[in-house]
Amino acid sequence: MSLSRAAAFAPVNIALTKYWGKRDHEINLPLAPSISVTLSDLGTLTVVQPDESLEGNRMVVNDQPLDPKGLVKVGRVMRVVRQLAGTDVRAGIRAVNTVPTAQGLASSASAFAALAKAGASAYGLELDERTLSGLARTGSGSACRSIHGGWVLWHAGERDDGADSVSEQLLAPEDWPLRVVVAHIGEGPKKVSSTNGMKLSEQTSPFFDAWLKTCHQDVEDCKAAMINRDVQQLAHVVEGNALAMHATMMATRPGLVYWQPATIGVIHAVRRLREQQGLSCLFTIDAGPSVVVLTEAGDLPKVSAAIGAIPGVTRITQTRIGPGAHLVPNG
Ligand code: DP6
Repeated sequence: MSLSRAAAFAPVNIALTKYWGKRDHEINLPLAPSISVTLSDLGTLTVVQPDESLEGNRMVVNDQPLDPKGLVKVGRVMRVVRQLAGTDVRAGIRAVNTVPTAQGLASSASAFAALAKAGASAYGLELDERTLSGLARTGSGSACRSIHGGWVLWHAGERDDGADSVSEQLLAPEDWPLRVVVAHIGEGPKKVSSTNGMKLSEQTSPFFDAWLKTCHQDVEDCKAAMINRDVQQLAHVVEGNALAMHATMMATRPGLVYWQPATIGVIHAVRRLREQQGLSCLFTIDAGPSVVVLTEAGDLPKVSAAIGAIPGVTRITQTRIGPGAHLVPNG
């Protein structure tokens, strides 16, 4: 076993068919499969330094000590790493996000994918991507998809130990190079985290069973749209899935309303651009007010300009579909 400092960058991913519901809340086993695209540039850079003098893991995110809830999740990932490496040595961990934390842009996904990648390397483990995705999943479910680049499927799996709840790449970034526009809406962290919101929806949303059924069908329909490289077909399933998830959230007691007025403004604008102006674009929304728009490269300037002009959209970020988590030498 060799312990040494390691750094990794992992990008965020945006789900095209969503993960909202777990069969195991400890190790984040989902009730349904999901599909995502990995975004380039936006993500988390994490440095893991094993340190024999520490009695517990220490972690700093954007120069602030990590909150106790976050530390519990980090502890789960690092416990698996130590078990695999056969050591008790704890680590000092430093992470820097290039994406706003907790605004519905899956910063936990990039954070735990980067932690899994850097942690495994720092403890001398050579894990394949499938195993790494399972490790990232124990920190945050959606993190397993950020291990891979491009278009990614997360298998729900059936086993209690989660060994089959891992992700795989379906298409490389260059296989269908759609562009991405993030419409940032709202300030500050969301009121109900995905972890808590999901649990509440499972327990109280009258739409929850119908939602799960939809997810299984939508994954199949999404794969078909990907094979055909058909944006219209993709828009139908991706927008339908996001709206069904938000309907399930809103019907939760008490209702989870993540949207702001500008969220609805972007939804209507994307539909107008597609249906009235013939532009190839579609939207999706995670557990927050911000909207992510996918578009063909040729339509990017018009789509960006239209979305950026909507009142309440504070900023837009243009990005691409990119590679997954990777080590950063000297990071
Ligand atoms: C709405 O992966 O953040 O973004 O597993 O509890 O950490 P935990 O939840 P998380 O949930 C993401 C929910 C979502 C949909 C998705 O990314 O599929």
